[in-house]
Amino acid sequence: MAANMSRSCRQYLLHLAQDNLDFRLPEIESLLALGRKSFNTNVNFKETAPFWCLDGLCEEDVKAVMARSVCAKSAYELWGHGRTHSELKTSLLKFPTENMRPFMHQHSTYRINVYTFNKTLEFADRIKRIDAMEYLPFEGTVSLKSPQHVFCLLEDYGTDPNNIPEDPEYVYFGRWIADGQRELIQSHSVKNRHFIGNTSMDAGLSFIMANHAKVKQNDVVFDPFVGTGSLLVACSQFGAYVFGTDIDYNIIHGKGRSCRKNQKWRGPDENIRANLRQYGTEKLYLDVMLSDASKPVWRKTALFDAIITDPPYGIRESTRRTGSHKDMKPGDAVYAESHVPVSQAYHLSDIFKDLLSFSAHHLVLGGRLVYWLPVYRPDYSEEIVPLHPCLQLISNCEQVLSSHTSRRLITMEKVKEPEDMDNQAHLLDPRFSPYEGHNAFRQKYFSGLKKRDTKEDGTSEVNGQ
Ligand SMILES: C[S@@+](CC[C@H](N)C(=O)[O-])C[C@H]1O[C@@H](n2cnc3c(N)ncnc32)[C@H](O)[C@@H]1O
Repeated sequence: MAANMSRSCRQYLLHLAQDNLDFRLPEIESLLALGRKSFNTNVNFKETAPFWCLDGLCEEDVKAVMARSVCAKSAYELWGHGRTHSELKTSLLKFPTENMRPFMHQHSTYRINVYTFNKTLEFADRIKRIDAMEYLPFEGTVSLKSPQHVFCLLEDYGTDPNNIPEDPEYVYFGRWIADGQRELIQSHSVKNRHFIGNTSMDAGLSFIMANHAKVKQNDVVFDPFVGTGSLLVACSQFGAYVFGTDIDYNIIHGKGRSCRKNQKWRGPDENIRANLRQYGTEKLYLDVMLSDASKPVWRKTALFDAIITDPPYGIRESTRRTGSHKDMKPGDAVYAESHVPVSQAYHLSDIFKDLLSFSAHHLVLGGRLVYWLPVYRPDYSEEIVPLHPCLQLISNCEQVLSSHTSRRLITMEKVKEPEDMDNQAHLLDPRFSPYEGHNAFRQKYFSGLKKRDTKEDGTSEVNGQ
């Protein structure tokens, strides 16, 4: 009974990276959902804070999250916390000694770290902090190099670098459990990637997308706008089989001009398969195919566990899809004798309608769609996020690109199989209207930039595509 009591009152502390703030909670929630868990956050919970206290989990749940998270740096079993060191002491002295003992007995080795957020402490001050913890019943031997157990005192000095308080705003003490997967951001950086393009997705965001999509081992994941395959790289790292399509022959076949400095043409093996080979996941490469996403070639059945994609916004140039002579109007004679497929504008509203409808038909139940929605910030409200009767909106996270532009990472989950009615319902949905006149959206997107974000030297802050 006592053991159960002490087990149920355990709390965990997550130390999170202070970038991509909006993406962190959906990442942690998705990873817990992957293990069919949810959590309660305690009263100190602030979504933008570097530390979160979590209740209602066991150590295995936390380890499973840390084995995947690129937003969390480290996780601790929380032994005590408070607004001051004195409150911390009171809290620590209440922590059940039977929960401490396995990690503090005389045959164990340990180390205590001191971590300060938004302040740097002198070495001597760190030592003072460690010495002050002697009220805890440490019986083991200190080992700085290879301790069996690592404890950490964490001090939070707030998030304002221009107003750092003398004393911490909050302090925590806990037993280190696991680190997150932040090193994946370096090891998979597009800077060192074999095959890249102008719109290759940043490694950190690619892993976040894979986590929001709850991608897991042996899943089949599809990217309909695959480009250089950055999203496939991330999903294969988590054990999924990956497949992609793109309308660009050169991208699919790894040919054409290189976007690297000092290199005119792509090399013989610059392609998506080689990217997976670079990271040891080639066995999970199903294939990539030249195909227009507006005209899917698939049987109407659930094929994919996740669809994760970065659609062409056409911000820099208008987006195209294949057309046919039947779409030609009188006077379009210039194309009439062409044998090459004719291309026509692919409006953003159509891209999103097609993507949602495709996902409703081709995701398995419970499967997730994760994609980016470009946004002109002054016009944004939650009402413009495209919906579909078969897809439940799970999260909607903003990445700000400039004062007037951003993109939102939208995560949806398939909750029912589509019926004929469902296909029609979202076609009339006014949510798609901001993206209806594609060129109008582009003009607005850039007018905002020209007026407000273009600097005196003529460079602009935009980071879109
Ligand atoms: C933003 S990029 C994707 C970048 C990719 N995530 C990467 O990491 O390289 C969009 C891609 O969509 C492709 N595309 C544009 N229109 C398309 C269409 N109608 N069907 C399929 N692919 C299309 C473009 O060729 C481009 O490679």
